[in-house]
Amino acid sequence: MSKKEDAILKLKKYNQDHIIRILQKIDKKDQENLINQILEIDLGQIMDLYEKTKKDKKKTTGKIEPINSLEKSKISKDEINKLSNIGKSSIKEGKYAVVTMAGGQGTRLGFSGPKGTFKLDIGKKGKYIFEILTETLKRAYKEYGFESYWYIMTSEENNDDTIKFFEENNYFGYDKEKVKFFSQGKLPLIDKNGKLLIGKDFKIREASDGNGGVYVALEKNKMIDHMKKNGIERVFICGVDNIMVNMVDPVFLGMTIEKNVPIASKSISKLYPDEKVGVFCIRDKKPGIIEYIELTEQMRNAKNENGKLIYGDANIVSHLLKVDALEEIATKKLDYHAAVKKNAYINENLEEVIPTEPNSYKFESFIFDGFKFLDNMAVLQVKREEEFSPIKNKDGLDSPATAKEIYCKYWNISI
Ligand code: UTP
Repeated sequence: MSKKEDAILKLKKYNQDHIIRILQKIDKKDQENLINQILEIDLGQIMDLYEKTKKDKKKTTGKIEPINSLEKSKISKDEINKLSNIGKSSIKEGKYAVVTMAGGQGTRLGFSGPKGTFKLDIGKKGKYIFEILTETLKRAYKEYGFESYWYIMTSEENNDDTIKFFEENNYFGYDKEKVKFFSQGKLPLIDKNGKLLIGKDFKIREASDGNGGVYVALEKNKMIDHMKKNGIERVFICGVDNIMVNMVDPVFLGMTIEKNVPIASKSISKLYPDEKVGVFCIRDKKPGIIEYIELTEQMRNAKNENGKLIYGDANIVSHLLKVDALEEIATKKLDYHAAVKKNAYINENLEEVIPTEPNSYKFESFIFDGFKFLDNMAVLQVKREEEFSPIKNKDGLDSPATAKEIYCKYWNISI
């Protein structure tokens, strides 16, 4: 049987006949590429994930208990100094590094390039997100006279553009040798009727497999080996889209070292019980995050004796993990969740369709899906206005406009 016949059989088996019709209309070279891709992709896995989207999966699973966090603002001055010194020594000894997860699609922002290359209207010339993150690192490391390794996770889709951007901007003055790019894994996108999307390059559209892909991506790309060879013991992992993220916080690091936990995360206090954010918890005796829809009304409103919400530590994607914990999680299988996103595709007349509404599922695992493989966790609650201002949407909440406002207020920059 020829490769083409093989591919057609596979497409028929998984009800992807629209691709067979598209195959007949494209030229030989494109046909060949598409056929190879069809033969490579695990269609069984994608169809299973698609079938799961039809089930109600938002029921709480496992035994949920609250997790105690420590409020940074309530730690005594002496204790802050002690923790800070512990953290600073570790940084100076080169045992600390930073990972930025920048493999997302940024569909809600509606910007076609990598999100880190988005320019905010800050100051006279404007500032790119990657520029702000670089400044944060440089400012912190100035004190120690050296720069740590900075691992940047990209996707296959945005890897070249990301590297090119850093090259063109001379790494914003960061030591180029210390910046390591690595690409994460990908999975096909599928529309709401269970049909794979074909892109205008006549290939099945695939996208990164969620920020939970960071563990396997670090391992596969030999970044964990690199960390170990360089004596790095703990890494701070964050997203690309929070321009207030404090990537080098010696107090946070010192606390993690002193408590000797495999993972510590930063949180902010939930604004009100119904705020739609994931919060830290203990699930089946293991660290985890419980999502807003999983919390019962009673849990959402429950308060402790000090009047604080028991499930009130919101996740801001600021996690500090031991390198051996990363390595351990990389050997585990994480769950996938379906996110509904807007993704362009070509129809059977080979015309590109740009959807105005979310039309397709992207399957993602989340970084916190890996936490259940660890025994314990420390949570440090910090102030929202000092460390959290994400850029998710084009307008409104968590948009460039809100991020600019918070950033400028903090840094005393006139708007
Ligand atoms: P989000 O979940 O906000 O997704 O990512 P996104 O892809 O950036 O944006 P939308 O949902 O399409 O609008 C949170 C963080 O995780 C990273 C993102 O780059 C962001 O820093 N991420 C997300 C990855 O690195 N890989 C992924 O596959 C998904």
